[in-house]
Amino acid sequence: MAVTVIAIDGPSGSGKGTIARRVAGALGFHLLDSGALYRLTAISALKQNVAFDDVAGLAAVARDLDVEFDSNDAGGERILLAGVDVTRDVRKESTGALASKVAVIPEVRAALIDRQRAFQRPPGLVADGRDMGTQVFPSAALKIFLTASAEERARRRHKQLKDKGMDVSLAALSRDIEVRDQRDSERSVAPLKPAEDARILDSSGRSIESVTQTVLDWVAEL
Ligand code: DC
Repeated sequence: MAVTVIAIDGPSGSGKGTIARRVAGALGFHLLDSGALYRLTAISALKQNVAFDDVAGLAAVARDLDVEFDSNDAGGERILLAGVDVTRDVRKESTGALASKVAVIPEVRAALIDRQRAFQRPPGLVADGRDMGTQVFPSAALKIFLTASAEERARRRHKQLKDKGMDVSLAALSRDIEVRDQRDSERSVAPLKPAEDARILDSSGRSIESVTQTVLDWVAEL
């Protein structure tokens, strides 16, 4: 049976994660948060004292990740790394910055490819990241490139982190997002860019519900 894949790519804070989760929920599809795999690679490397310039070491960490995506008692997300709950560490801004660094390494990306493709199971998959439509699922039925203005993305991230009780200044976050955008877009392997056949969706000034509905309308056209 053919498995429908919906690829949602875009920069940090564009709302990919939230929209992907909503769309997957509405369709009863599986969900792949590919950024979490890069974040987990960074966390695992720190835990194992693998240096961030040790390419072979980082690739081995990525290949051997022992990860479980679970839900907690309240129905929220829970991520276990080698059986240890690292959900909070995964979402930290510092983890995102390290993830962006390990994501530059082609050997790390290659080590994560099969693991990402294994999420493609019936009845379908919504995958969010930077290269879902360009590299990991090039034949996805629907490819979306979700964007929003840099200011709005920083504001959203700020609110998201504050809601989780994490303290970070808006100015620091804006700078961090800018640096990350640049690194993710300019790297030579699988840079952040829309697939040729992607639909661009700008979520600036739009509600989560409205953006989710647009995606669902596009899915209905498939
Ligand atoms: O989406 P995110 O913020 O969780 O991603 C964290 C970092 O991981 C991001 O800065 C770049 C990298 N990443 C990637 O290179 N390719 C992906 N498909 C997903 C994330």
